[in-house]
Amino acid sequence: MKDCNGVEQVALRVPRGASARVSLLGGQVISWRNERGEELLFTSIKAIFKTTKVVRGGIAICFPQFGNCSALEQHGFARNKMWSIDYDPPPLPPNGSNGKVFVDLLLKPSEDDLKCWPHCYEFRLRVSLSMDGDLALISRIRNINGKPFSFSIVYHTYFSVSDISEVRIEGLETCDYLDNLCQRERYTEQGDAITFESEVDRIYLSTPNVVAVLDHEKKQTFVIRKGGLPDMVVWNPWEKKAKSMADLGDDEYKQMLCVAAAAIERPISLKPGEEWTGSLELTAVPSSYCSDH
Ligand code: BG6
Repeated sequence: MKDCNGVEQVALRVPRGASARVSLLGGQVISWRNERGEELLFTSIKAIFKTTKVVRGGIAICFPQFGNCSALEQHGFARNKMWSIDYDPPPLPPNGSNGKVFVDLLLKPSEDDLKCWPHCYEFRLRVSLSMDGDLALISRIRNINGKPFSFSIVYHTYFSVSDISEVRIEGLETCDYLDNLCQRERYTEQGDAITFESEVDRIYLSTPNVVAVLDHEKKQTFVIRKGGLPDMVVWNPWEKKAKSMADLGDDEYKQMLCVAAAAIERPISLKPGEEWTGSLELTAVPSSYCSDH
C-alpha cells in the first residue's frame, strides 16, 4: 500500500476488525482504528504529504532531540527520514508480541546523516496490534559507535477527541512540568486533572507509567501505558497558534490532543554496544470501563 507520494505504508489488521497503518516515512503510525472502524488518531485535513516531511497527526517519532535545542531540525530528524522494513530483527524478550500482528522497522544513519549527528546507531521500531486492538510501539536503540552518545525521544501522539473542552487527563496531578510557553520554567501541577481552555505546551516530568485521557462526549478513554519513558508532553495549540500553522485547519485544535510519552529531561546515554528499550501501549475503552475497574 502506498500514499499519494508513493511512500510505502504497512497495514496491520486483526480478525475482529481493528487496524493500523504505519508509514515508512518516519516510521509514523498514521492510522489506528477500533473494531468498529472508528479512527482513534487525529490527522489534519490540511496535512501535507511529502516524501521528506512528517504528516501533522498520527504518532511521530521525535529522535534524537525534542524541540529545537540544537542545530538539528525541530524534534530531530527521525520523523522525516525514510525507514526500512526489518525482515530479520533480533528477538524481543519472550511475550513481547505474542498473539499480535506487527511490523518491524529500522533506521540507520546515512553518510549525510552522520554529518549532522555524528553517531552510529540502529533504531528498531516494532509496531503491533493485539487481538483486542491495542496498539503498541517498542523502540530499541543501539549504539554501534566507538563512543557514547545521548538522545531524547518522544512518541508524538495525536489523539482524536470529540471536543478539547470535554477532555481531561488523569494521572499527571502533582507532577512537575516544564512550561514551553514560559522558556521551560518549572511548575508543579495543582489541578485534580488537566483540562483545556487555552494553549497548553508542557513537558510533565517523572510521570506514572499509566495515564488516561478521558473524552466525556465520546464516552471513551485512552489508557496510555509506557515503559522507559519518564516524561510526558501535553500539547494543544489552541486557536491562535492553529491559525498560524500551514498544515492544521483553523478549528482543528478542537479535535486533537497530543499526549506523548517521552524521555526529555534526562537524555538517555548509551555507551558503545549498549541498547535502550522504550515502549508505549495504547488502549481505547468505553469510559464506564475505567470507573468500573
Ligand atoms: C509539541 C511542542 O510537542 O509539538 C510544541 O511542544 C510544537 O511546541 C508542537 O509546536 C508541534 O511541533 P511540530 O514541529 O510538529 O510543528
